[in-house]
Amino acid sequence: MTQSNQPRTIQIFDTTLRDGEQSPGAAIAPERKIIIARQLARLGIDVIEPGFAVSSPGEFAAIRQISRELQGVEIVGFARAVKGDIDAAVKATQDAARRRLHIFISSSDIHLQYQLRMSRAEVIARTREVLAYGKQFVQEIEFSAMDATRSDLDFLTELTEVAISEGATIINLPDTLGYALPEEISHMFTSVRRRARGGDTVRYSAHCHDDLGLAAANSLAAVRAGASQVEVTVNGIGERAGNCSLEELVMILDTRASAIGVKTNINQSEIFETSRLVSRMMHFPVAFNKPIVGRNAFQHESGIHQDGLLKNRSTYEIMDPEAMGIPRSMIVLGKHSGRHAIKHRLAEFGIELEGEQLDAVYAAFKIKADSQKMVTDEQLIRIAGEQTETQ
Ligand code: KIV
Ligand code: ZN
Repeated sequence: MTQSNQPRTIQIFDTTLRDGEQSPGAAIAPERKIIIARQLARLGIDVIEPGFAVSSPGEFAAIRQISRELQGVEIVGFARAVKGDIDAAVKATQDAARRRLHIFISSSDIHLQYQLRMSRAEVIARTREVLAYGKQFVQEIEFSAMDATRSDLDFLTELTEVAISEGATIINLPDTLGYALPEEISHMFTSVRRRARGGDTVRYSAHCHDDLGLAAANSLAAVRAGASQVEVTVNGIGERAGNCSLEELVMILDTRASAIGVKTNINQSEIFETSRLVSRMMHFPVAFNKPIVGRNAFQHESGIHQDGLLKNRSTYEIMDPEAMGIPRSMIVLGKHSGRHAIKHRLAEFGIELEGEQLDAVYAAFKIKADSQKMVTDEQLIRIAGEQTETQ
């Protein structure tokens, strides 16, 4: 909580169309990018990174159209620390009502040595040069220190200081390889913020990958350590194991809002629609057991759970699926289902059974359930018809 006890608002920065599109097989045509961007705006995303302008003419055109059309959202032009990238990013986003230039360079010694082949001094000099160059065109500048979590903390602090002195307004400290632990993220954000000169004059952003399944936990740790922006993708798509999943992070911040003391501008009722749209357009299936948007996320098979749910949903549900646009929680009928659930499901179809009739239907249902994974509503109704006719 802030001192006034008002929850802090965390900005949701969506990079589905840039980092997410870097998932193998997820690349999409410019027309599809625009459809997804419109849905992201309906979802209430604060900042959209629609692509990498310098990478192709189609990409440039899509970013340009998104910038023109989505006037209520801040649009990001993404660039490596080279002038050609900055020029393309600046040009592609020039019609946006609000825009930001996002410049990145690596900060870890591993990247400096093997990828950039630059010394620390050269990285500092390049950062100065490109930030000063970009600042002529765009006021809001996000600077990302790629591989921040595997970087020397003193060097990361020095680089941040240089970026701030050259006009960066947002500092992003990515966990590029999904390597960090939550307490390390917490330490990195707290330390850079306190130690970098001017560190308390800018905003901080988290950008976590999911290689060890820690992206959401690490993003949460960053928020708790003062970050006011998180970078996410729909369905968690992205390089390798993906990025922090938008729906997971948003629902953590919402479900545990009173414990964390923050809020977001996300319109929850669009979560499911957004997930399905991205999955369809990018040909990227959502795992059945994926939190929030997976097929099984709100399905309950065991008789004990079904019984509890029928008495009160809060027994086995911590979120309201319908508030996220997810079709009414389905109780799956299978071999673990109890008599109560069968009676309840039949009653929903106007079939009220008691006593011996219910016993007979329940026994026939169990035989069917033993031979297949789930019993559909149609099968259950047929069983009820057969059993009640023979009585
Ligand atoms: O993972 C990463 O480090 C990135 C940056 C370029 C922001 O995607
Ligand atoms: Zn990334």
